[in-house]
Amino acid sequence: MSVQPLRVVSARPATPAAPLLQVDGVSLEYRTPERVVRATHQVSFDVHAADRFVLLGPSGCGKSTLLKAVAGFVPPCEGEIRLDGVPVRAPGPDRIVVFQEFDQLPPWKTVRQNVMFPLVHSRGMSRGEAGECALHFLDKVGLAQFADAYPHTLSGGMKQRVAIARALAMRPKVLLMDEPFAALDALTRRRMQEELLTLWQDAAFTLLFVTHSIEEALVVGSRILLLSPHPGRVRAELNSHQYDLASQGGAEFQATAQRIHHLLFDEAPRTAAAPARAAQAR
Ligand SMILES: Nc1ncnc2c1ncn2[C@@H]1O[C@H](COP(=O)(O)OP(=O)(O)OP(=O)(O)O)[C@@H](O)[C@H]1O
Ligand SMILES: [Mg+2]
Repeated sequence: MSVQPLRVVSARPATPAAPLLQVDGVSLEYRTPERVVRATHQVSFDVHAADRFVLLGPSGCGKSTLLKAVAGFVPPCEGEIRLDGVPVRAPGPDRIVVFQEFDQLPPWKTVRQNVMFPLVHSRGMSRGEAGECALHFLDKVGLAQFADAYPHTLSGGMKQRVAIARALAMRPKVLLMDEPFAALDALTRRRMQEELLTLWQDAAFTLLFVTHSIEEALVVGSRILLLSPHPGRVRAELNSHQYDLASQGGAEFQATAQRIHHLLFDEAPRTAAAPARAAQAR
């Protein structure tokens, strides 16, 4: 049975501007000598400037593959990805990825050198300019005093902050984050979510964020795309800008989280099960 994508809410303020990022009917496959694995099937969504757009779905539904495709590392076998109307064909400095792993920083470079490197080599800044820019963004993530430290002397959360500073300093059109806080303890994860939202308020960058945590999607996202299990197809798209860390324990937040859970994991249509449950209750 094919599941039709469900538009739960489409209340983003009407905007005359064209979407910054368009993912248009994109199917993605991995080809191994033995078989072809379809990671996503005809996925479409639009990301507007300053959106905090979240891809949410169970493990294996193709979230990371979609992010890699937007980054330009995986070409679609069907459909097209456009950034500012231009088809994405290769990686570029307008799309920077922050990954889950803490070892994204070359260990032989100091924190400041790590942030400076792409500014000099991809953005063509002088070393002086790049050094100032690096310090500015390290300050934003609270790490200015660690500028001369080496990555191995930092905690996991601090390393992720450096990776975020390095990405933001590049002023990408879209910041791509693949479960960036998943390997952190719960307290640090919460603090990093809070910091990311503060940074976003400050710099209003466009974010495409992958998670399999419903709570994290609601806290971090202004808009959420729900993907079905393997291969990933669009289940629904909804607004979530009304939620933040403060609303996390509230009744409305919990109800929305429940609704998302059902949309993601209920196999049978809920209306079919409802009469039976109602009959039992009587
Ligand atoms: N290099 C690869 N070669 C072959 N198949 C792959 C490869 N990478 C991923 N896949 C398959 O593609 C599908 C989607 O993988 P992907 O990593 O995008 O999922 P995901 O949603 O990010 O999962 P998770 O939440 O576990 O990170 C999975 O079935 C996976 O096994
Ligand atoms: Mg993944």
